[in-house]
Amino acid sequence: MRILSGIQPSGKLHLGNYFGMMKPALDLQKEGEAFLFIANYHALTSVSDADFLRKSTMDVALDFLACGLDPAKTVFFRQSDVPEVTELTWLLSVVTPMGLLERCHSYKDKIARGMSPNHGLFAYPVLMAADILAYQSNVVPVGRDQKQHVEVTRDIAIKFNNEFGPVFTIPEPSIRDSVAVVPGVDGQKMSKSYNNHLEIFGNEKETRARIMRIVTDSKPLEAPKDPETCNVFALYRLFASDSQRKEMEDRYRNGGYGYGDAKKAVFEIMWSYFEVFRKKRKELQNNMDYVEDILRSGGEKAGAEAAKTLNAARRAMGID
Ligand code: ADP
Ligand code: TRP
Repeated sequence: MRILSGIQPSGKLHLGNYFGMMKPALDLQKEGEAFLFIANYHALTSVSDADFLRKSTMDVALDFLACGLDPAKTVFFRQSDVPEVTELTWLLSVVTPMGLLERCHSYKDKIARGMSPNHGLFAYPVLMAADILAYQSNVVPVGRDQKQHVEVTRDIAIKFNNEFGPVFTIPEPSIRDSVAVVPGVDGQKMSKSYNNHLEIFGNEKETRARIMRIVTDSKPLEAPKDPETCNVFALYRLFASDSQRKEMEDRYRNGGYGYGDAKKAVFEIMWSYFEVFRKKRKELQNNMDYVEDILRSGGEKAGAEAAKTLNAARRAMGID
């Protein structure tokens, strides 16, 4: 089974990224052959500062390696080290109906938020389809907001296979229902574009301050509270063991426990969860040549796979 996912290096990674995509993808490393990449071509749709993009790309590499990506099990690479995917994007474009892209929520949301409707933004899902199909991926772990893109990929692959013969494996999205959407400090979906996020490797003081700002209702300390509708609890449960979660639920329901205390508990559990990862990240930061070597050798392995698929697609279409 081949597992593949990617993430854009468009800013600091946060808890939504971690629980929605990184952790599921890292957990799947044990179950099959994993490919993970840093989607820097995709990031060009929103980043226009070259130095920032270079730095963010290496930051994402550090984040993944610190959080448990094992380069012996996972092929880890930069999207742009495999330029075959851009050629494959073109081959897929000719079987991609405009309507399929016009229906994409992500495109519509980005336009609604004021991004300019350029071709890169519109064709984004076709590049993503090429990423997935180039490696004949079976399973794509992503957060819920990316599910539609994987469905678009399936539609494109099925259409291509029908027209030109069976070149591509049809992938399945894999979405963890328990953490389908991680809320931000304001209760909306956590996202760097809403500035409601908690960075995985954020600074201690800033992280604590952001957690203390999590929006709650205004029930007084004595009142019993409902954990199911509380943003603070929703974040706490991501880190908690079953017994810690039950204990916190009881505290909420019994009353006499305030949101301030619950927020402190979120900070403590989050800070200690990432303790080991922070240490690992510091070590790696002092060894950037090692990180670069991992990406480069991952790119070579990924490139060899992508070249096979690209050749098969070219042959099927008559341009070999
Ligand atoms: P952002 O919204 O901060 O720009 P991205 O869109 O780059 O994040 O998301 C990268 C990955 O992380 C995707 O797989 C996405 O589904 C997942 N993800 C992002 N935010 C969340 C969230 N709040 N809850 C669950 N998954 C998320
Ligand atoms: N579009 C994804 C995101 O914003 C990143 C991505 C690019 C991706 N190519 C992919 C994810 C292929 C999974 C598979 O999060």
